[in-house]
Amino acid sequence: MTTILVLNGPNLGRLGSREPDVYGAANLDDLRVMLVAAAPAGVSVDLRQTDDEAELIHWIYEAVDEGMPVILNPAAFTHYSYALRDAAALVTKAGLPLIEVHISNPHARETFRHTSVVSAVATGVIAGLGFDSYRLALDFVTRRPA
Ligand code: DQA
Repeated sequence: MTTILVLNGPNLGRLGSREPDVYGAANLDDLRVMLVAAAPAGVSVDLRQTDDEAELIHWIYEAVDEGMPVILNPAAFTHYSYALRDAAALVTKAGLPLIEVHISNPHARETFRHTSVVSAVATGVIAGLGFDSYRLALDFVTRRPA
């Protein structure tokens, strides 16, 4: 059984009620149901969310130590957390895929969202496709788990 870690950063626990015009009306439980249904046989999806930078970094260490591919929506940490970037680099340096995902398209929004400090160490980036950003990332990592 391969486990894919789907990690979500700050304020994503509020999906469903947070700026539905930007992020839609569905919440993280809806996302979990969608990804579990989309996962092929033998693949389990472990979806987590935290508002805490240290907790997110520790989950990334867990991915490295256990050899788990990562789908990461760093949320606002995307734009300024060098600590998260350094942790994300450990994943890709270990030969594991790390896909940065965003529900919205940060490039079509405020200028501060145009910079990602994570993208340069990610395997790839999928943004602006709503929850399909995650589904497409899951499709990629399950075809190419390492
Ligand atoms: C986001 C985009 C970020 O700019 C923002 O801070 C988020 C969500 C997205 O999924 O579109 O919290 O990562």
